[in-house]
Amino acid sequence: MSELNKIATKILDNGKGILAADESTGTMTKRLQSVNVESTPENRILFRETLFSSKGMTDCIGGVILFDETINQKTNDGEKVSELLSKMGSLAGIKVDTGAKQLAGSPKEKITEGLDGLRERLKEYYKIGARFTKWRGVYNITKDCPSKLSIDSNAHALARYAALVQECNMVPIVEPEVLMDGNHSADECFNKTSVVIKKCFKDLILHKVDLTGVILKPNMILAGTESKNQISNEETAKLTIKCLKESVPNEVPGIAFLSGGQSEVQATENLNLINKFNDTNFIMSYSYGRALQQSALKHWSKDIKDIKGTQMIFDHRAKMCTLAAQGKWSINLENN
Ligand code: G3H
Repeated sequence: MSELNKIATKILDNGKGILAADESTGTMTKRLQSVNVESTPENRILFRETLFSSKGMTDCIGGVILFDETINQKTNDGEKVSELLSKMGSLAGIKVDTGAKQLAGSPKEKITEGLDGLRERLKEYYKIGARFTKWRGVYNITKDCPSKLSIDSNAHALARYAALVQECNMVPIVEPEVLMDGNHSADECFNKTSVVIKKCFKDLILHKVDLTGVILKPNMILAGTESKNQISNEETAKLTIKCLKESVPNEVPGIAFLSGGQSEVQATENLNLINKFNDTNFIMSYSYGRALQQSALKHWSKDIKDIKGTQMIFDHRAKMCTLAAQGKWSINLENN
């Protein structure tokens, strides 16, 4: 096993998943404002360290994706964030793209930026403790989208990113997110997600990326949020597995889904069914942002000093997700 493969499988070992706490300052500000908490650097690290020091971290979370601000912050006790994570048994990851911007030539679509100077930034992140990274390409579904231009240019960027990350001895999370927004059918989501993922791997191979040291972070196959033809969770699980089986090379060790706007329970139930039906060699786990943090954030916002209460809520969510990653979750456990 290569070193990169060891890191990838350690992060997703035995039902463990990833906490995506890499909201940019802008996104985190929106999240905090939605629960009436002022978005200051102090409040942002306070919420995050409340989760990072929680018991559920050790049992369930193999890796945490951080934003640049957070990886450079210290906790209330003056500890480096990467050291706190390592004490909790979790690896520090870092989001290294600089965001999705309007795609020239197709203004309704986005291209993710951040390749300029990336090699130097990666070396710095490695020095301060990061062992894996994330880059998110984003695609929307309409009649004509994602266009070939968007599919090709985002795949190219993801591949250049992944090659640079591996050169720096870190594991790249490759995240091509096909959004849930819109009124498209689940079949359209299946077809378009398949094309997007296949193109990403074609480019990863072209750029000589070691696929055994990559984690794929895809969306699940769902009908658009505005579609009248929603599908069952069983159908989502089966279509998601079919899509990944047909699009992802066997060497890839792990897949960690994004939650993408699904509710906490829906994201958990779908992951559980995916694992019940999983007839592939891929580890199928989670890399959730909102579906791990939403309830904890709501509780915390009522009393930001209630560390224990907030941690209990986070621990429960992390435990439910880890059970789902093992195919052992059931709805009855939600109320225990
Ligand atoms: O890039 C997306 C995030 O890392 C995952 O967030 O689970 O809220 O979609 P989400």
